[in-house]
Order: sequence, then structure tokens, then C-alpha cells
Amino acid sequence: MFLTVPKPNQLSDRQVTSNPIPQDLFTAIADLKKELNAVILAHYYQDPDLQDIADYIGDSLGLSQAAANCQADTIVFLGVHFMAETAKILNPDKLVLLPDLDAGCSLADSCPPDRFAKFKAEHPDYLVISYINCSAEIKALSDIICTSSNAVAIVNQIPKDQPIIFAPDRNLGRYVMQQTGRELLLWDGACMVHEIFSERKLVDLKLSYPQADIIAHPECEPNVLRHADYIGSTTGLLKYVQKSDRQEFIVVTESGVIHQMQKSTPFKKFIPAPPTSNCACNECPYMRLNTLEKVYLTMKNRSPEIVLNEKIRQAALKPMLRMLEMSK
Ligand code: 13P
Ligand code: SF4
Repeated sequence: MFLTVPKPNQLSDRQVTSNPIPQDLFTAIADLKKELNAVILAHYYQDPDLQDIADYIGDSLGLSQAAANCQADTIVFLGVHFMAETAKILNPDKLVLLPDLDAGCSLADSCPPDRFAKFKAEHPDYLVISYINCSAEIKALSDIICTSSNAVAIVNQIPKDQPIIFAPDRNLGRYVMQQTGRELLLWDGACMVHEIFSERKLVDLKLSYPQADIIAHPECEPNVLRHADYIGSTTGLLKYVQKSDRQEFIVVTESGVIHQMQKSTPFKKFIPAPPTSNCACNECPYMRLNTLEKVYLTMKNRSPEIVLNEKIRQAALKPMLRMLEMSK
């Protein structure tokens, strides 16, 4: 696995500019939004301040659908690189901005295109279904893209005798195998955030909160998922807590998602599941590279923007459109 853990959060060299940072960033960003005719899309793992300035907050499927239907000239993407890249794949003529180009993804990094192309060539009869958490190059090598909210439904639409490669997340792949009863050939990738939840600490937490439901993202390891009362994408987890009669939830995913849970059901209690380290909760170091200051500077400078090789973009678009079609 090729992990490039980002440096602690600070304005990167790319962001160093002579522009002074205004005191009221919220108003300054709202003004720039009008100037650029921009829409701000954010993932649930962003800092609460960033979620609060977004026009749309969602999981990877929702964000792709929002990008596909976007009417604005500019998309400011508050998420990680593969998400902004996906928006650009769908919108080649729009300006797609990402506040920090170092906001990568350990899962996407765990699947280098040259190694994956070789793996695919060794299995010529296989259909390639790739989780959206991958680079444009991997998407271009895939037949269908999926997200954590539609992976089971997409695999269920494929004829039973068709062998399938599932990449890059082995944990989501295992979960899909369990749900569909299908054998999948898995790429051995994983997310560094979801991999490090501690099963022992989770069990201890459940003893302290016996009435709480454990809700988990399918990127978690099987030994953690087996304790879950509900498994789903970030939007799935949010909907679950909104509908449930329970008052307490142990949340086993990046803790940013708790902001929307708390906002929509303020009387309920959400306990973030702890990782194996000494931290109380688990944040994605890539997602958290984006800050309000960087959003302001990015919009002011119209940079950094996502730029894609057109051949790769066109090849990556096909499996993306297939996913959107199969998710209707
Ligand atoms: P979803 O929001 O699609 O559940 O994905 C979670 C994630 O890890 C995004 O990087
Ligand atoms: Fe990637 Fe994991 Fe961060 Fe999601 S939480 S962006 S999968 S490293």
C-alpha cells in the first residue's frame, strides 16, 4: 500500500498569496460564490464550518448526482481529490476547484494504475467494478463505478455467471460478497481511517452505552462490522439515525458525519467510535486539509483547479455514466 499521509493542516505553498484574508470569511465566500456563479458541494467528513457553507452535502453517490445535474459555471468541491476529479469527469467545461490538492485518499492510493492494469490483464474475462474512491486512471480501466450506497444493488444487476473484479476496497468488497452471496475477486486496498477502529474499545463502549445502536460504514474491517446493528454509506447512516426510535448511537466512521446527525436530531446522543490510537475519535487527515481560509483563497484565485487528460476523462466517464444509469 502507498500511503502518503498529509502534513498537519496549514496553508500550503500553493496557497501562499498576497491576498489578505478577510475577517468575515462567510460573507467573503458568499460574495465570491455570486461572482463565480459557483455551487459548493461538500462531503460529510468535512469540518462543520465547511459543511455549513455548502449548497449540497452528501455521500459519494449524492455528490456525483449533484455534480451531474449541476447548472453553475464553477464547482467548489469540499472533499478529497477523487471526488473533485469525479465532478470534473462529469463536467469537463466547468471550473472545478479543490481548496487543497494534497487532499488525497489512502484508499485511492492503494490502487496504482500500472499494477491494476496488469492485474486486470491477468483476468481478461472479468468485469471490473470499482468503488468511486479511486483515481480517474482506475475509473478509466473499469466497466462500472459504484459507491458504498449502491455497490450491493449494482453487483446484483450483473448476470450470476459473469466473474467480477471488485476494486480497490477489500472491506467493502467482502461486505458486498456477504450481502450478494457472490464470489468477487478483490483488490487488496483499504482506507486508513476505517481500518483502525478498535474492536476492543468498541465492545467496551457498548458496555457503557448498552441502549446504543452501533452504526458503521462498510469500509470498516469485518471484525468491527460484525458488531454493527446497521451498516451503510454516510447518507445511509444519517437516514438511519433520523428514522430510528433509539436515542443513542455509536458511530463507526469518520466523525465529521456526526455534525449533520446532531443538527437534524439534536435530542439524540452520538458517540464516535475510537481508533486503536489514543484519540477519542477518528478524522480523515486528507478531508480535514480543507479549511475556510483555503476555500476563500481558492475561490479568489480560481485555483487550484482540477485538470484532466481528455482521453482518460472520456474513458472514466463511461463507467461513471453506467453507475448513474444503474442507480436510477
Ligand atoms: P460515502 O460518503 O459514499 O459513504 O463514502 C465514505 C468515504 O470514505 C468517502 O471517502
Ligand atoms: Fe479516503 Fe478513507 Fe479519507 Fe474516505 S475516509 S477519503 S476512504 S482516506
